[in-house]
Amino acid sequence: MNVLVTGGAGYIGSHLVRVLHGAGHRVVVVDDLSSGHRDAVPEGVPFVHADVRDRGAVRGALREHRAEAIVHFASRIQVGESVRDPRLYYRDNLAAGIELLESALDEKVGTFVLSSTAAVYGDPLHVPIDEGHRTLPVNPYGATKLALEGVLASYAAAYGLRYAALRYFNACGADGGLQERHDPETHLIPLVLDAAMGARPNLTVFGEDYATPDGTCVRDYIHVADLADAHLAAIAHLRAGGEGGAFNLGTGHGYSVREVILAVERVTGKKVPLVMGERRAGDPPSLVASPDRARRTFGWVAKRSGLDEIVRDAFHARFPGAYGLGQTPTDPR
Ligand code: UFG
Repeated sequence: MNVLVTGGAGYIGSHLVRVLHGAGHRVVVVDDLSSGHRDAVPEGVPFVHADVRDRGAVRGALREHRAEAIVHFASRIQVGESVRDPRLYYRDNLAAGIELLESALDEKVGTFVLSSTAAVYGDPLHVPIDEGHRTLPVNPYGATKLALEGVLASYAAAYGLRYAALRYFNACGADGGLQERHDPETHLIPLVLDAAMGARPNLTVFGEDYATPDGTCVRDYIHVADLADAHLAAIAHLRAGGEGGAFNLGTGHGYSVREVILAVERVTGKKVPLVMGERRAGDPPSLVASPDRARRTFGWVAKRSGLDEIVRDAFHARFPGAYGLGQTPTDPR
């Protein structure tokens, strides 16, 4: 099939592009490189350097590549920034998403997959969280993703657009030589790896007095390769006329910040220097998905999201020359 991927030079987008391309699908990437990396797009994949609001560029790419589906990753992703400067999120996530949909409707693209987030739920009333859980975002990042989901639901009802809003829990890991390269990096696993390897002086643990088994926050970490597979399965399902809507992408199992640190120590063989810090504003104690709807609807389950596998893949992608615990230069990676 022919797929246009916005944000295909970014972390999760580039992993999907690689999987689509590798499976023989025709892909075109639209990315303005405001946070993505041109070298994350495989050779041979057409690349359009444009903002998703650029209707001429987007419609041209849709037409030229006969796109049958759009996967929309391009967006801002920092919760803290969204609180400090929400106009960026209403403008670049919500308004830009609506502009992209104008191009999709004008070019009669029938299938649309949105990169959404667990942040649409806000502070959960219970875990695991299923899609029927009430949505009450506590920051503009989650609010703008939820609003765009609402636009999709209206367009599906009125215009017959088939859509899936994929609500990622904690995306992490790496595959195929790609890696997480955010600037600034705020995500736990790369920061813990950096601290272990001496690339940062230490890791600050944001709170150890939560009502969780070891006092640190619990999250549902999902390997980016599993996320990529879920997108592929969702597109195929929608194109076969299957039911759309919102789907959680997680494992159903949570790990605490401490458990992540221990996994990094196991994988790298190094001690992580820690600083115990204050709670970070807006962090719920525990966020764990119920991924049942994605399993029932399009047969997706996470296969590579064991914590040690995630950490090992992230480690080798971030520190390509380094060897982990018990590894020698002759060991297969
Ligand atoms: N953490 C630390 N120290 C750090 C960084 C993170 O202790 O230096 C902790 C956080 O407090 C949190 C956990 O590690 O408990 C995970 O934090 P991340 O920043 O890696 O991820 P979040 O759970 O905050 O964010 C993720 C996605 C967001 C999404 C959010 C949903 O990255 O895009 O889940 O609430 F919005």
